Order: sequence, then C-alpha cells, then structure tokens
Amino acid sequence: MSCADCGSCNTGDEGVFHKDLSGFFTPKVVAVVGASANKSKIGYQILSNVVDCGFEGEILPINPKEDTILGKKAYKTILEYDGQIDLVIITVPAPFVIETMEQCATKKVKCVAIITSGFGEVGNHVEEDKIKQIADENGIAFLGPNILGLLYMPTKLNASFGPKELINGKIAFISQSGALAIALMGWTVMEKIGLGALCSLGNKADVDERQLIEYFNKDKNIEVVLVYMEGIKDGKAFMQTKIEKPVIVLKVGRSAAGAKAAASHTGSLAGSDGVYDAVFKQLGMLRANSFTEAFGWARAFSLPLPKGDDTVIITNGGGIGVSTTDECEFANIKLLDDPKWLDEKFRHTMPSYGSSKNPIDITGGGGVEGYRQAVRVAFNEDKIHNAIVLYCETAVTDPREIAAAVIEEYVASGKTKPVVIAMVGGERSREALAKLNEAGVPSFSTINEAVSALKVLYDWKKIKSRKSESFDPGAAPVEAIEIIQKVKAEGRTFLMEQEAREVLELCGVPTPKCGFAASVDEAVAIANEKQMYPLAMKVASVDIVHKTDVGGVILNIKDGNDLRQKYQLMMDNISKNQPGAKIEGVNLVEMVTGIECIVGLSNDPQFGSVCMFGLGGVFVEALKDVAFRVAPFGKQEAERLIDDIKSKKILNGFRGMSADKESIAKVLLAIQKLSPFVKEIDINPLLTSQKGSYAVDARIIL
Ligand code: ACO
Repeated sequence: MSCADCGSCNTGDEGVFHKDLSGFFTPKVVAVVGASANKSKIGYQILSNVVDCGFEGEILPINPKEDTILGKKAYKTILEYDGQIDLVIITVPAPFVIETMEQCATKKVKCVAIITSGFGEVGNHVEEDKIKQIADENGIAFLGPNILGLLYMPTKLNASFGPKELINGKIAFISQSGALAIALMGWTVMEKIGLGALCSLGNKADVDERQLIEYFNKDKNIEVVLVYMEGIKDGKAFMQTKIEKPVIVLKVGRSAAGAKAAASHTGSLAGSDGVYDAVFKQLGMLRANSFTEAFGWARAFSLPLPKGDDTVIITNGGGIGVSTTDECEFANIKLLDDPKWLDEKFRHTMPSYGSSKNPIDITGGGGVEGYRQAVRVAFNEDKIHNAIVLYCETAVTDPREIAAAVIEEYVASGKTKPVVIAMVGGERSREALAKLNEAGVPSFSTINEAVSALKVLYDWKKIKSRKSESFDPGAAPVEAIEIIQKVKAEGRTFLMEQEAREVLELCGVPTPKCGFAASVDEAVAIANEKQMYPLAMKVASVDIVHKTDVGGVILNIKDGNDLRQKYQLMMDNISKNQPGAKIEGVNLVEMVTGIECIVGLSNDPQFGSVCMFGLGGVFVEALKDVAFRVAPFGKQEAERLIDDIKSKKILNGFRGMSADKESIAKVLLAIQKLSPFVKEIDINPLLTSQKGSYAVDARIIL
C-alpha cells in the first residue's frame, strides 16, 4: 500500500508527506535550467535574482550554448555537473520539461521548481501527470508547474522573477497566483512588510499549501504563514493540515455561484462559501477578507500575545477615541475600566482638560511628551495588557517625533505586550507609519485595521487554547440501515417522514411522540391512546415533497373533534392543490415548543460530509443564518458550530425560551453516523428549549 500523499513510499502512513522540502529553502547548490544571457528572458531574470540577492551556495546556469552566464560557469545539462544538486529551477519551454525532470531523477535531485506554463492550466494534464509520476517514483518534491518561483530570506535565495529589493521578515507567503505574488512583493516593500519566504504554487501538481504550512510550522525563521488561495485540490487531505503557527488565509471566490442544485436546504446552502469558512475555522486558520487585512494581521504576529483582556486606548482626539471604542466593542476587545486607577496613572500625561477615562485623551495639548509619558505607563503597567495608540495629525505636533517616542518606549519596555497604532493624517503621518512598521510596531492609517490586527491576536490565542479532539461518530444501528436499504430496494430516493423519524430516533436524535394513521378513525384512536394533543398532522404521500405548499400540514389540533374536522379539511386541500396525489395516510406528531433550528448533513464534492446548523423554519431561507462543519467532528467543535451563527443571542434567550445547546450538540454528533448512507438530511425544525431538542420534521435523501 502506498502513501496517499507522496505516492512513492511504502509506509502506508497516509496523511504524511514524505518528501523533503528543505532543498527549496536551504539548498547548497542551485541549478537554473534554461538560464539565459538574454535579459528579456525569464531564465535570465531568475538567474540574476539568485546571483544578485546574495545566495551564498553554488549557482549553476544550465544552457546548451553558453559557457558562462552572469560570471557563473554554465553547464549544458545538469548531468554534466559532478556534485549533488539540491534545487533545480526549470525555465525551459514546456516540451523540454519532462526530459529535464528525468535528468533530475538521474541526478537524485530532491526539489524542483517548475516555472514553465502550458500544463494543467491549459488542459495539458497528460504531461503534468507524467511529471508527477516521475517525481513520485523518484521522491522529487516539485512546486508548480506555472509558477513565479520562490524566495527564502534567511538563505538570501531569490529564485523568482519578482523584484530583487525586499524587506527581511518572518512572514511566509504562499500564493496560488504567481502574478499576484509578484505584485505583492513590490507592495510589501512599499508597506514596509518583511517577508521570510514566498512560494508560488501555480498548478499545485505536487507540493501544495498543506505541505508548506507543515514545513513552516517547524521553521524558526517563520512566525506566521499567509496563504492566498483560489481553490483546494484535495479537500480531504487539506483537512489533515496541522497548524502550529498562525495561518492566515485569503480565499477568493466567495460567491455562491458554485452552489449546486440540491433537494434540501442543507445541500444548497452548503454549496456556498460557508463550507470553506467552516474548513478554515475547524483547522484553526484565520480567514481574512482582503490583502490589506491579511497583511495587517500578519504584521500583528510579530507582537507577543496579550496576557489578559484589559486594553487602553491613548489618543489626542475625542472622536477617533470614541470610534475606536466602538470598533473594540464590535471586536469583543475589552477596555480597562478602573477610572480611579487610570486617573492616578495617566493624569500627569495630559493637560488639565484631558480625560483619563479610557480612551485616555491627552488632547492636542499633550504633545510628543504626553504621548511618551502615556505609552510608558501603558507599556510598563502589568494591569494593562494591550495598548492602542491613536493619532490625528495636527499642526502643533510632528507624527514622526511621536513615532520615534513610541518606538523608544516600546523597545525600553522590553516589548512584553501588544501595541497597535493608527495615525490619520497626511504625508508626515505616512512617514511616521513607515518608521513604526520598520521598527516592528504594527501601524495603520485607519483605526479599523489597527483594531482588527489586535483582535486577530485574541482569535489566535483562543485557537491555541483549544483542546485537541478526535471523534468517531460510530456506526449507525443495524435497524436504521435496514430501513434505508428497504427504501433503496423500493427504488425510492427519499425516506417517508415516519421512516426518517424512526432512523433518526434509532441514531439517538430525540423526536416527539408520533404515529401514522391510514384513516381518520385510526388517527383519533392513536392520538387518544398516546395522549398527543395538541398535535400536528401532516399528509403522508410519496407524491408530495413540499407538504405545506399543498395544505398538507395542520398544526395545533386540540382534541378528537378538532382532529376529525382538520383531517377532512386537509384531504379537501390536497385534492384541490395536487389532484391525483396518492395518499397513504397522515403522520401525527405531538406539538413541541421551542426555538426553531435547522440541523442538516450534506455531501460536499471536495470535503465529504458536511453538517449544518442554523435558525430553522422560515428563517432558513429569509436569513440564511447557518454555519457548517466538516464531519467527523466532536462535541467541542459542535459547540463552536452552534455559537457560529450570527443570531446566537436568540439561542441564549428569546420570548422566554432558551436553547439547550448540549442537546443540539448531541444531535449534530448523532447524525454523523448516517453520513456513509445518505446524501442529505434536513431536520427542520429541530425545536430546542430547556426541555431538550426534538427533531419535529426531517427529510432524508439517499
Ligand atoms: N536545457 C537547458 N537550456 C535550454 C533547454 C534545455 N533542455 N532548452 C532550451 N534551453 C535554453 C534556451 O536555449 C534559452 O536560452 P538562450 O536564451 O540562451 O537561447 C533558454 O533555455 C530559454 O528557452 P527559450 O526557448 O528561449 O524559452 P523562453 O525563455 O522564451 O520561455 C519559459 C521559457 C519562460 C519557461 C516559457 O515557456 C514559459 O512557460 N513562460 C511562462 C512562465 C510563467 O509565466 N509562469 C507562471 C508564472 S506566474 C505568473 O502568472 C506571473
């Protein structure tokens, strides 16, 4: 049995990538195949970056015609070189790539970056598969094809055709798009963002995000990984990604265009971007909405994590202080609230008309010295866990001097707590921000970015504190499988309501008292015997999928007489709205009260079984306030899923009712037993109250 990931080892140890990636980042000998003396060629640009950026290992230009390029001895092929080559960069046209890969195999090269385009991205899968086959058979890890190259600052290796001038830092940037990576390389310089590594992934025929994230987990030169992603090739493998450092993901393509036509709410909602959201949350990755947000967050990870929750805002403007207070509230960032203590500590930093309540408003009169004194208190008092420093540019203070004072005080304090800065103003403020960012103090031109950068530290702290949880949903009971098999044998693709209820009950999902009656007399007899009033009556018919639409659902039936009348009314409704529908009888269900939720399960083509939770009933379509998790997942993840919906406050108490979250979590775990046997499940509504959670109506599609 071979490993699912590398395809080349025989350990059978699935989920572990066995190829060694160190040659990409710390090679001793690098060859550029297709290196050219012609400046207009990519093969020249890459070689000149490798040479000019200071790589200290041996550099081998490979070119059939040249003797030397850029002062380096050239070889006709890599086979001509005697020693071990750690990294080969391929910049020859597509028809020569396979032959070059074969030479890499002969030379026992372990890492290859294939810049060349013209493979899977243009439908040339045959040659891409052949490259992958050669690589797997020879334990070669390769990036691409169709990439911009790679960069690793600690070894001064710039094997890309991007810019030469870059700022050294600890962010690893992994980008599916090469063009975007080039553009952002230049942008990072302008924004004073330091990169530690950059890898372009292109077609991801071999090395993908997962392997690089796991490599950088162990790399002490990298603090945070930022991934730009357009899609995931193998969802199930991606779900195995181990996260040890902050991973920020910018996944584009949020529209629901990919939503597939499905018979259930769960199916159609799950096809949306919500599943990617779930994947990132489940894996503990931080999903950003834009590049500026992603890089803002990445900057923040140069800071220590906050030791507690108490934040102070230091400002020279009341308005900016108040709006930052609002932003903090939206972000759940707590401001230190101890007016007496704050006044004692900060009063000396401001004029008499300043405010020592948090936000600490040193006013325009505080000046550079006011900022210096105030940040000194904030950086050195243990009771304060974070500082947000705000500045509105005025004619009386120079933001560059304030920046210098903040940097000096921060360095002097030993950088023991997070600080983020927002400076709003003109050219001088821009220079001040650059100075702060160069000094490793995350600084922004808007308050939203500053607060968001601080919030992400809390998000990561929460993720880090999660206990690991493995979960096996267990097998579905034999009786439940038998019901499903019987339905299949009858050629049906969905379970009748009573069958669905029975299957769920067998798997451990509580359902209200119920019964099936083929006639009105039988219905009355069953309802009386089981004491089901008030009850709901629903038509049972294989011809009717949307019962409510044809008048096939009547609620709040009080007693036997009411039941007889409503039975007749329902039959009249159906013969009018869906004449000819074959009616087997009616399902009677005890009326249970509670908050209407929806719990579902569907099959995502990428990630497999996906569970959904949200507000149910009519809210599903109106609000679409639902969240997802990829199965299997355990109790803690189920609890996080429940807390993920926007209207979670309703679950904590609404019209005198509150949800029993524990019983909802049990339902979420129980339905996972059915994932191998069903296509989609909708439990809608799942009524939840302090008495528990009951599946009142359910649809199961095979
Ligand atoms: N071994 C060694 N050298 C060779 C071989 C070989 N087997 N075959 C050719 N060469 C040499 C050539 O002689 C040439 O050198 P020269 O200038 O001295 O003659 C050099 O390799 C390059 O070959 P060319 O035929 O000139 O190819 P060219 O440079 O025009 O294109 C390239 C090659 C860049 C790989 C091209 O095929 C390609 O794929 N371009 C797209 C790359 C790309 O955009 N990748 C995605 C990046 S991400 C983004 O979107 C930005």
